[in-house]
Amino acid sequence: MIRKYTFGSPIPTGAVLQDVPAESGSIPFFTLDREGKKIILSITLQPDEVIFGLGESVRGMNKRGFVYRSWNSDVFNHTESTESLYASHNLLVFFSPARLFGVYLDDPGLVTWDLGYTRSDTAVITSENGDLDLYVLEDASLPDLARSFRRLTGRSYLPPRWAFGYIQSRWGYASEQEIRTVTSEHRKRHIPLDAVCMDIDYMVDFRNFTWKPDAFPDLKGFSEELKQDHLRLVPIIDAGIPVAPGYPSYDSGKAADIFCKKQDGSDFVAAVWPGRCVFPDFLREDARTWFGELYRPLLDAGIEGFWNDMNEPALFYSDEGLADAFARVEELRGEQVEYEAMWWMKDAFNGIANNMDDYRRFYHRIGGTAVRHDRVHNLYGAGMTRASALGFRRYDPSRRFLLFSRSSFIGAHRDGGVWQGDNFSWWSHLKMALQMLPNMNLCGFLYSGCDLGGFGCNVTEDLLERFLQLGVFTPLMRNHSALHTRDQEIYRFASWEMMRDTVGVRYALLPFLYSEFMKAALTDGMYFRPLAFDYPEDPRAVHTEDQLMLGEGCMIAPVLEQNASGRYVYLPEDMLMIRFRSPEDYDLVPLAKGDHRIRLRLREFPLFVKRDHPVLLCPGGESTDTLDDRSFTALCLTDRGAAFEFYRDDGTDPDPRLEDHLIRVAIPAAAPQASPVPGVAISALVL
Ligand code: GLC
Repeated sequence: MIRKYTFGSPIPTGAVLQDVPAESGSIPFFTLDREGKKIILSITLQPDEVIFGLGESVRGMNKRGFVYRSWNSDVFNHTESTESLYASHNLLVFFSPARLFGVYLDDPGLVTWDLGYTRSDTAVITSENGDLDLYVLEDASLPDLARSFRRLTGRSYLPPRWAFGYIQSRWGYASEQEIRTVTSEHRKRHIPLDAVCMDIDYMVDFRNFTWKPDAFPDLKGFSEELKQDHLRLVPIIDAGIPVAPGYPSYDSGKAADIFCKKQDGSDFVAAVWPGRCVFPDFLREDARTWFGELYRPLLDAGIEGFWNDMNEPALFYSDEGLADAFARVEELRGEQVEYEAMWWMKDAFNGIANNMDDYRRFYHRIGGTAVRHDRVHNLYGAGMTRASALGFRRYDPSRRFLLFSRSSFIGAHRDGGVWQGDNFSWWSHLKMALQMLPNMNLCGFLYSGCDLGGFGCNVTEDLLERFLQLGVFTPLMRNHSALHTRDQEIYRFASWEMMRDTVGVRYALLPFLYSEFMKAALTDGMYFRPLAFDYPEDPRAVHTEDQLMLGEGCMIAPVLEQNASGRYVYLPEDMLMIRFRSPEDYDLVPLAKGDHRIRLRLREFPLFVKRDHPVLLCPGGESTDTLDDRSFTALCLTDRGAAFEFYRDDGTDPDPRLEDHLIRVAIPAAAPQASPVPGVAISALVL
């Protein structure tokens, strides 16, 4: 059951697709208070209540015990005390033996979620705007609730199948030649690879939709050349458009009066990578249409995928902000500066970037009315995603394009994926990446992943390997790192063969993982889930924070610690462990329900599979284009045989029907003499 309550005059966000009539009267579960415009919802928590949700946010899968803020932020160097990341996913699901319900705030402004932080037995949700639609969802089970929410907000984005391949990225690749080196180093060592990202250095002066003519003299030809080798280019596009008369994107946007405005009606200007920029008003349909068209030259050059960045929007500084900081510091000139004043001066400049005063300085035009940015801040990245998706659809409605964005809001999950932003080469960020994934799935973002290896600071060999082992299972599997950090491509490391084998496992699993992803997406389900979704009555499973359910029958439990030779894993039921070392080299170990200490040397990582659920391994390969997705080895813990539905499509159809692509597979029971591992059926399948 879904109930809706409307407060004030909400600004349409496009997040919800279903038309739910608003109710009046008291809101179930919550006490409602108002403080000026603010809406404050409070609830007393059950002692053992778990709270899932908030998609991309720090800390555990269970969000209880901390305070979070929905305020899309450019937060390089985030830690576990960072209250806002790049996205706002305003859904919470409360789960305890006593009750199960969800609450969704369709509110594009600042929302604070104090989930047992101020008082451990109380959750308090505060909407600054006070204009919002509030939805309360009740269902019989966690998966049902997740499905109801997806039906409310729409089907998840479907990437093309090649987007499940391994993607190499680094801030700094600046020419065809550098990219050729990257691809040939992968190919010559047989490290699988499907795409290379182009970061801002491919552009002329960091201007969107341009490319350096000397470094990329024939982008179309280059993209063709790579496609011959089953490789694709994935360029970055940033939100800001540099103020540069004569630059076509600026000129056409200016002519159509597309940019966000200050109160005096002039364009709002702030600096990002290209210097002073204006910002398309992505909340306007005409601006989205205009921006979507700008991708055309790159699409014409054969590009089939993009990543959209800096779309919180990130603002390095505005002239006004800079002037304020100088004025504040000027006041101290000639004074005796003590340490407090010195810190204060430092903060005056540190606080210039992504400053709230700047977010209050500009306006969007919504339905003919000027709306100050801070009221709708969290919609900006989603608007950019929608603009791009529209452009791709108009360009070629017959196929899927890859798109992943840094900033997002629920609703954008229909048009693109997301990556988790600028993480660091830290073990804690490996764990954080894992813990975000199921909550992002709950909020609709199935196509996601983190920067494998970590974006900021220097990776170590073992950390990259452990990141890759998580990446084997994340739909977006991209190695990305920042300028001036240690080179992070697999081939840079002495143990590249180990990493190659790890990526090789991804390719052996790829048709199976793609099938699990598509089944989840097309049934409004989740690809990654907290264990509670499958084992709601098992308190150990409900509180497990470092293992995830994957697809219909799998569970992952990656190593998340430095120098670990293994880890403890909790099995909520009997499972088959496949301990991979390479696509051909793995152990099959049936394990009983309960706790296990699993040996996992650096090159080893496990996949756990429920009884009567097979895992399908294809012969592997070096690119998704050339994978044989017809011949499989099925591995299944089963006594009586099992049935399975395998999904396969052409990888490009934008609107596939599940029923048209399901292949029903019968796994025979394990013949005792034929299988080296009792109870495990190993069958060769041709599908
Ligand atoms: C931002 C992005 C990062 C990118 C960099 C340069 O920090 O999050 O992925 O490499 O900008 O474009």
